Amino acid sequence: KYFHQILLFWEEKMKQKIIIDTDPGKDDALAIILASNSNLFDIKAITTVAGNASIENVTKNARYILKLLGLNIPVYSGEKNSNKKLDSIVQGKNGLSGITNNLKADLTKNAVKKILELIEKNPYEITIVAIGPLTNLAKAIKKSPEIMKKIKRIVIMGGALNVRGNQTKYSEFNFFEDPLAAKVVLDFPTEKILISLDVCNKIMLQISDFEKISNNKVRKFCLKIMKEYIPYILRTEGFNGALMYDPLTVYSLINPSACKFKKLKLSVIPYGINEGQLIEDEKGNEILFVKNIDKIKFKQDFIQILSKEETLLNSKELKDLGEETKQK
Ligand code: BDR
Ligand code: CA
Repeated sequence: KYFHQILLFWEEKMKQKIIIDTDPGKDDALAIILASNSNLFDIKAITTVAGNASIENVTKNARYILKLLGLNIPVYSGEKNSNKKLDSIVQGKNGLSGITNNLKADLTKNAVKKILELIEKNPYEITIVAIGPLTNLAKAIKKSPEIMKKIKRIVIMGGALNVRGNQTKYSEFNFFEDPLAAKVVLDFPTEKILISLDVCNKIMLQISDFEKISNNKVRKFCLKIMKEYIPYILRTEGFNGALMYDPLTVYSLINPSACKFKKLKLSVIPYGINEGQLIEDEKGNEILFVKNIDKIKFKQDFIQILSKEETLLNSKELKDLGEETKQK
């Protein structure tokens, strides 16, 4: 028994410490489930940022996802002022359309403060998984670059380098929403990994893939959100499948050997008609640009991780999904 306790202790210690900065968002929801179900991360906090929907809605959605997963992780909301606040069409009305959610947003408005506090408490150990507009991170950098230098790395979903943007011809949604913040973060000298549309456009799942998830409850949740997401993606982006944007950031930490990285100097155009455009820039900061991800491996790992039974989905929330709650 004593040996088992030591093992558990080490397992906890070996986990990568992360903060997920997010605007859920259906693919954000998948990223959170992938991270928590993999059991490889110590998720210190979820910080929310306006993007796919208003700060109220994305914060409610974050609380809902955690409740559904039975996870006790603190949620800290960001402030309201991301530049544009265009709701994302692919995510539906409240960012997680198809799901009724009566939770309170309970806006704490202290995301930036908590990010800085957590980094100070865990110097050089925290990875920030940034899967929404980069508003909170840019604010944290402006407020205390010294503390932000003590992060381990940032993994970002955003930008489109050699492919068409999904918001304008040149800009991807997260960078377009707050281009200046994207520039501040990309120019900040720390280890960064970037998952842009260049790789995202190659990786999508079908309903038949989600049907293979053997954890009954996770599968039902995924099917519920994906059944609406896939037709939206087809209508707005022209891709026939669920594009896996945000889960790819988490996956690059879970299985880096399935990813091909290239060091590039990149920056972002902050203003004007090309605002939000990701560009190569000799004066820019070096970043690990993910060129490719093995899609077969991703699919296998994704299904296997989401199939794990440890997830303690909350049965009341599942009833609200209108699904039967009996265990398989
Ligand atoms: C990004 O925009 C959002 O709609 C998704 O959640 C993802 O973070 C893709 O462009
Ligand atoms: Ca997102």
